[in-house]
Amino acid sequence: MSKRSEPIPGITDIFPEETTEWRFLENTARDVFRKYGYDEIRTPILEREDVFLHSIGESTDIVQKEMYSFTDRGGRNLTLRPEGTAGVLRALTNRGILQGEEKRVYYSGAMFRGERPATGRKRQFHQLGVENVGKISPDIDVECIVMLMDYFRAVGLSDAKLLINTRGLPSDRDTVSKVLSSYFSKYDEEMCSDCRRRLDTNIWRILDCKNPTCREIIVKSPPVLDNLSESSRDYFRKVCDRLRLLNVEFEVDTRLVRGLDYYVHTVFELVHGGCGAQNAVAGGGRYEIMPPGNRRATPGVGFAIGLERLILSRADAGKYVETETPIDVYLVSLGDAARLENLVLAGRLRENGVAILMDLEERGMKAQMRSADKSGARFALIRGDEELSKGVLVCKNMGDSNQFEILEDNIITELFN
Ligand code: HAM
Repeated sequence: MSKRSEPIPGITDIFPEETTEWRFLENTARDVFRKYGYDEIRTPILEREDVFLHSIGESTDIVQKEMYSFTDRGGRNLTLRPEGTAGVLRALTNRGILQGEEKRVYYSGAMFRGERPATGRKRQFHQLGVENVGKISPDIDVECIVMLMDYFRAVGLSDAKLLINTRGLPSDRDTVSKVLSSYFSKYDEEMCSDCRRRLDTNIWRILDCKNPTCREIIVKSPPVLDNLSESSRDYFRKVCDRLRLLNVEFEVDTRLVRGLDYYVHTVFELVHGGCGAQNAVAGGGRYEIMPPGNRRATPGVGFAIGLERLILSRADAGKYVETETPIDVYLVSLGDAARLENLVLAGRLRENGVAILMDLEERGMKAQMRSADKSGARFALIRGDEELSKGVLVCKNMGDSNQFEILEDNIITELFN
């Protein structure tokens, strides 16, 4: 097969035998999120670049290295969305979200990041996300986390581990940055080149570095929590207390800061061993975002689940649902008269919800039976002139090869009730 017919690295086709699993995950999300009052929103895949620059953060890996950005013929700087939150906030504030009003939305779709492809790390990947926009309260954060856990239970992954932390308020940042700076500058020589740069550009980003040498230094760094204001600590305490009250198991990871700059207060990730090195299947937190053209930041809390990683975890746990054959009946026609009658019959059966395939090429019996077999149909319904004259069809149960005659008028009642 020519390389030119393959998608580009890190971008994959999703074939029919895989889509039952995808639909199951999306439909389950709808069922779970609906119970918490969330409605679907669909925002564009292509946005102005500045929708992402300031909200995600100029010094994040996403903005620095991973965005697919280009200038269109009208001279606009555009970006394929690397995540959903910034676009959703742009859409809601563009509509004029009222102060103090709460919006609950979920979305599902493709995101794009120019990362090095690996298992669970794609350049086009799919997120299922939710955003609760407009209000600030530890209880909203907790409800959001509970909903995420509810979803993971519904898709059979109740063993995923919840990690949480707090980044405090923007007003806490200077204090924390100074403490981190005095710690990390001691390791200037040992850290990776990215982290050496981060010492000057955005010290918090060091905490998110995955380089093994940097990780050894990071695990001994002063916890963010210890250097936050009393009100930020109180907010986090309430989140933890409520989670305990609701029997949600979690682990506080004092160095979890997440790779986007818009977070304040609560941040969380759900990790699962089944998806390999990229073990964060979902991530989220509370944020403040000021979309371009707005003078005030809008608060919210939400999360996004990576569907490719979720599928890897479910496959590892033996939960992956294979696509079942969607075909109920293969109609086999022997002779022109039977073929015409079968065309009419196919229409009637489809009206009754039966999925039908039939020979449309006037082939012989053997070829048609081979197609019936290959289609995965539960029944082959066969007729020629003799069956036509009696008003019957020969029904072959493709599972056990049992054959019997059936009256044309009884097909629905006998086979599908
Ligand atoms: P994120 O942690 O960047 O957060 O992405 C969320 C999830 O998307 C990850 O946990 C992972 O499962 C998946 N993901 C990210 N990058 C890739 C990739 N290159 N290949 C495959 N899967 C990937 C966000 O995007 C935030 N918008 C989440 C959020 C919503 N925070 C508040 N509201």
